[in-house]
Amino acid sequence: MEKLTQKEHDFSAKLRQRSVIESLRQYITWQREVRTREAHSPLPLKGPASVNMDLTSACNFRCPHCVDSGIINTGESLDLDTIKQSIETLQQNGLLSVILIGGGEPTVHKDFEEIVRFIRERDIQVGIATNGSRLERVEKVAGLLKEGDWLRLSLDAASEETFRKSHRPAGNVTLGKILEDARRIKEANPAISLGYSHVIVWEGIRYNGHDLTPNIEEVPDSVRMAKEYSFDYVSFKPCLLRLEGSGKESLFDPPDPEREEKVINQVREKMDQAEQASGRSVKVLKSVNLQAMMDKTLHELKRQPVVCHSQFFRTVLAPSGIFHCPALRGVSDGRIAGSEGYQGRDRFLQTHESLEKSIKGFDAAKECSVVVCFYHHVNWWVERFIESGEDVSEIAIVEDNNFFL
Ligand SMILES: C[S@@+](CC[C@H](N)C(=O)[O-])C[C@H]1O[C@@H](n2cnc3c(N)ncnc32)[C@H](O)[C@@H]1O
Repeated sequence: MEKLTQKEHDFSAKLRQRSVIESLRQYITWQREVRTREAHSPLPLKGPASVNMDLTSACNFRCPHCVDSGIINTGESLDLDTIKQSIETLQQNGLLSVILIGGGEPTVHKDFEEIVRFIRERDIQVGIATNGSRLERVEKVAGLLKEGDWLRLSLDAASEETFRKSHRPAGNVTLGKILEDARRIKEANPAISLGYSHVIVWEGIRYNGHDLTPNIEEVPDSVRMAKEYSFDYVSFKPCLLRLEGSGKESLFDPPDPEREEKVINQVREKMDQAEQASGRSVKVLKSVNLQAMMDKTLHELKRQPVVCHSQFFRTVLAPSGIFHCPALRGVSDGRIAGSEGYQGRDRFLQTHESLEKSIKGFDAAKECSVVVCFYHHVNWWVERFIESGEDVSEIAIVEDNNFFL
């Protein structure tokens, strides 16, 4: 049996884990029934294995590159009761991990510590993506985090100047202070997987009327900083933009082959330097779309199967509702319920019906043809398995390890 190691982005292996495989087998069986029978066959009664939970739309940074800039600071937050009841309902239906992310900044939610405690007491894996400005709040609950849980800081810079220009923080938050805080947390609880996130901004990106500050030259230095401050990994991703009109996430819009070529070469060069700087202590992770950009296969990630299978396994719970994809958070096409949609069994069942409609009716081949999809590989893997007719009991089990989808 395979073990899931070093495969953060291998989502098909994640679906084959011992605790998830039953959902996968039932889902594939259901898809086959739907495709071959006239009779109505209900979607298996399982909830997502993983949710992205946007605690609040509030943010204390004003990042010009923020992909969620259109949905932050709306005054909306998830209240503590909604969060607790949703987690309980979801856990009864198979929830295994929660990613506290945004939208806004999770650590400005007034009940942040209690929420982490509540999730961890239920033995659900937790990941926290934060801008790092309130790490003292993370520190209060850091002792509860276990092997496999992660804390990822969205830093996007290795110098104070680029950090300030890229984030425009409220108050006098500095990169140096964040890095010191992070190191202290890691030293106090080495089980936490500590990540340094760097969204790569190259020359010439204009977004929401701003010229973004390039940080591509600092890619190798982010790795050096990560090493110096006891991080476990640096996670690099290309800067995504939301398209005007549809609000969907995309890369290189409008397409410009000549510029694209130059950017790709520069990204490759900097990523090579990053690898060289990494040594043994810190891992360099590339997002699926960054790897595809470097391999010049981005166009492939825009070709989806008609059915988005991932929506059965992970969703987004945000103050503005429940969405079937992180790339569609805040977008009406991706909304399957209001934010109360996981509170209690009755609402869960309604949301589940709505999800079934979305799985059957949402045409990802058409709707996501501009989205550089993180779930492209796993969606095609599931699609091919469904069509292959192979016995679901033959799917090889992977040992439990990482439930973040
Ligand atoms: C919008 S932030 C909200 C959560 C939290 N405030 C933080 O800073 O991590 C969530 C994630 O989106 C990423 N992000 C923001 N803008 C992006 C962009 N234009 N392209 C790619 N990722 C982006 C951030 O780096 C972060 O990892």
